Amino acid sequence: MKTIFSGIQPSGNLHIGNYIGALRQWVNLQNSESKIQNSELFFCIVDLHAITVPQDPRVLKGKILEVTALYIASGIDPKKSHIFVQSENPDHAELAWILNTITPFGQLERMTQFKDKSQKHEANVGLFDYPVLMASDILLYDTDEVPVGEDQKQHIELTRDLAEKFNSKFGQTFKLPMPMIQKDAARIMSLQNPASKMSKSDKDPLATINLLDSEEEIREKIKKAVTDSGSHISKDQGSEALSNLISIYSAFVNKSFEGSYDELEGKSYSEFKTLLADLIVETLTQIQKRYKEIAGEKSILKDILEEGREFAKDKSSKKLLEVKEKVGLGM
Ligand code: TYM
Repeated sequence: MKTIFSGIQPSGNLHIGNYIGALRQWVNLQNSESKIQNSELFFCIVDLHAITVPQDPRVLKGKILEVTALYIASGIDPKKSHIFVQSENPDHAELAWILNTITPFGQLERMTQFKDKSQKHEANVGLFDYPVLMASDILLYDTDEVPVGEDQKQHIELTRDLAEKFNSKFGQTFKLPMPMIQKDAARIMSLQNPASKMSKSDKDPLATINLLDSEEEIREKIKKAVTDSGSHISKDQGSEALSNLISIYSAFVNKSFEGSYDELEGKSYSEFKTLLADLIVETLTQIQKRYKEIAGEKSILKDILEEGREFAKDKSSKKLLEVKEKVGLGM
């Protein structure tokens, strides 16, 4: 049986980068006939990761349920996948502490996400340690595959290194997980600056399309998305900004980037932008419809999270006990 684990931070508004890079992949995995019979899927709301940068406590609490509802609205079925909140299972933080003691300081200093984020926020120890907590999330469940966007590759490499190091020091304990990153559209860029990743923390509202944006907002943001000085799509002069929009298009039509480019060749930028906005509106309207049905059902959402936590804890506690025994902890 294969185990799949992934998570999203409830640290802001989920956007189409999160949807294309992560959520959509999860739903496809969950619904693929061959996988479902042989997989155990865990989709976590990683709130302990979210507090590595400042959060308003009341907003954070609300976001945890919002992200849960968005998982479900996007197609995660709690009957097929286990959804839970990271801080509700203390095994994650406890294993992270143990893994800290075998993590080389220098390796964390090389993490590009830490370098980026520590320029934007006052760096705290939690932000530095973020990848070790992520390794703990993954290793606790004997995870085989981790479906994520391209930006998380380095963290999964660290996870593999830590697993190998622990295994060679204390004996075979952890499986080595593989990143599962899509070939196309694995890194969606800002609509205003194609050199930076589309991010929940972007201060420019025009840079991201959020899953809960209204139709007018979506159309406006696509209209104002930067392109280049050209006027028609041509493979000879593809700018990064245009490639990013074509990547988004390819994800929403479920085609390859190359195939989409061929299909769009010769269209005017404005014609293309209308097509793209129509597509995004169509998908997000469906997600928002389901979101509206479930978001107010707080007790149902909490029951789903409670059931997910119980299932997760049952599995992780065995792994943590094994780790503690091997390390020589406790009485
Ligand atoms: P987060 O919340 O920053 O991102 C959640 C997921 O969305 C993907 N993603 C993107 N994909 C494509 N283009 C983008 N612009 C874009 N922005 C974000 C991320 O790659 C990620 O898959 N560290 C993780 C959370 C985490 C986790 C884990 C993931 C904590 N523990 C264990 C997997 C397994 C993160 O980046 O969250």
